[in-house]
Amino acid sequence: MNICARRVRKWQFLQIFASCFILSVMLLWGLQDTTVVGHIKSIPYRYLINNYKFINDSLSINKSKIYMMPRYKYLINHKEKCQAQDVFLLLFVKSSPESRDRRDAIRQTWGNEKYIFSQYEANIKIMFALGVQKDPVNRQKLQAKLKWEDQQYNDLIQQDFLDTFHNLTLKLVFQFEWANTYCSHAKFIMSADDDIFIHTPNLISYLQSLEKTDVKDLWIGKVHRGSAPRRDRNSKYYVPYEIYQWLSYPDYTSGAAYLISGDVAAKVFEASQTLNTSFYIDDVFMGLCANKIGIVPQHHLFFSGEGKTPYHPCIYSRMMTSHGHVKDLYYLWKEATSHNVKATSTGFWGGIYCRLVNIMLLCRPHYVDTYSCFAAWS
Ligand SMILES: *[C@@H]1O[C@H](CO)[C@@H](O)[C@H](O)[C@H]1NC(C)=O
Ligand SMILES: *[C@@H]1O[C@H](CO)[C@@H](O)[C@H](O)[C@H]1NC(C)=O
Ligand SMILES: *[C@@H]1O[C@H](CO)[C@@H](O)[C@H](O)[C@H]1NC(C)=O
Ligand SMILES: *[C@@H]1O[C@H](CO)[C@@H](O)[C@H](O)[C@H]1NC(C)=O
Repeated sequence: MNICARRVRKWQFLQIFASCFILSVMLLWGLQDTTVVGHIKSIPYRYLINNYKFINDSLSINKSKIYMMPRYKYLINHKEKCQAQDVFLLLFVKSSPESRDRRDAIRQTWGNEKYIFSQYEANIKIMFALGVQKDPVNRQKLQAKLKWEDQQYNDLIQQDFLDTFHNLTLKLVFQFEWANTYCSHAKFIMSADDDIFIHTPNLISYLQSLEKTDVKDLWIGKVHRGSAPRRDRNSKYYVPYEIYQWLSYPDYTSGAAYLISGDVAAKVFEASQTLNTSFYIDDVFMGLCANKIGIVPQHHLFFSGEGKTPYHPCIYSRMMTSHGHVKDLYYLWKEATSHNVKATSTGFWGGIYCRLVNIMLLCRPHYVDTYSCFAAWS
């Protein structure tokens, strides 16, 4: 009886041991190319090797081949947009031809230039940066609609490359080229996705406080430090070794929304003209350009990455950007700028209340790519 029980236990132990072994092998195998392992590999690389000299040596275009870089012509342009006026903030929204509803929502909420000027006396210019509709069947019809839309609002710029995910780097260069050519005197420049919410009143008062000091070499957003290229073919951000063979990217800000000072736009544009634009992840490309000219991104706790921030007056009182808003843009604009926000979050008790609420909202254990727990304590 006793011997039998011992045998059973031994057998069970072996079974458990074998299962654990197989499981861990599978787990390690599965993790091989994911962000976790990639990140672990990239950290020593970033801190030990950390000079990214290869950007100049391997990713730059040989001067004798510069003529091979494609040039795109303007289909819609507004050369006059910034003329003969001080521009406080030039804001590019990366939009696609078919997203009229998103543009309209932005025009009526956080991107309403006239309203912002009347309320905050800041001259902001919003431009929607577009390529050409990728589907050739609808292209002509959509193009006619775009021209009509532009006659109403005068806020579209378009170049004749296909508007696709893998052409986002071309769109980035397009924005910097435009800023440099037609609006080089803008104090601040921002680039954002078309499903972003920007708390323009908070942003403007923040920029007005920065303006008092001499701002140069400024680049602010949600910073990705030492992130690793995705080698998993199914990932949206997959990058093959032929395009980028190293273990980590230079630091960059999430493309969802970032902010730079006018001088940076000029320098980045210059650097972009010396790098191979076949690297198609636009925010990383910006990191490559900035690294080449020695500009380092600064992290801002209230710029979000991919994530949508929680809905709460205590969040709105300090919010800069939040990502992934389409249908709720009108609602959020109304809520985030209501008098209620200030009433809730100011004063001694308001401060304590909001600290507690923000800790509860932002320090939850499951990870979402929005404001970090530090934001609640700041
Ligand atoms: C970058 O490369 C060019 C030649 O390709 C060289 O002239 C220049 O000095 C390099 N710059 C740096 C910072 O290494
Ligand atoms: C640039 O190309 C020329 C001719 O193709 C070659 O001789 C030169 O070594 C190249 N320079 C670099 C820095 O790759
Ligand atoms: C980018 O745009 C160019 C010019 O329209 C086009 O030839 C190319 O196929 C596009 N690339 C991608 C990946 O969509
Ligand atoms: C840019 O990189 C791609 C792929 O890495 C390469 O095929 C292309 O020739 C490069 N372009 C220039 C102008 O060097």
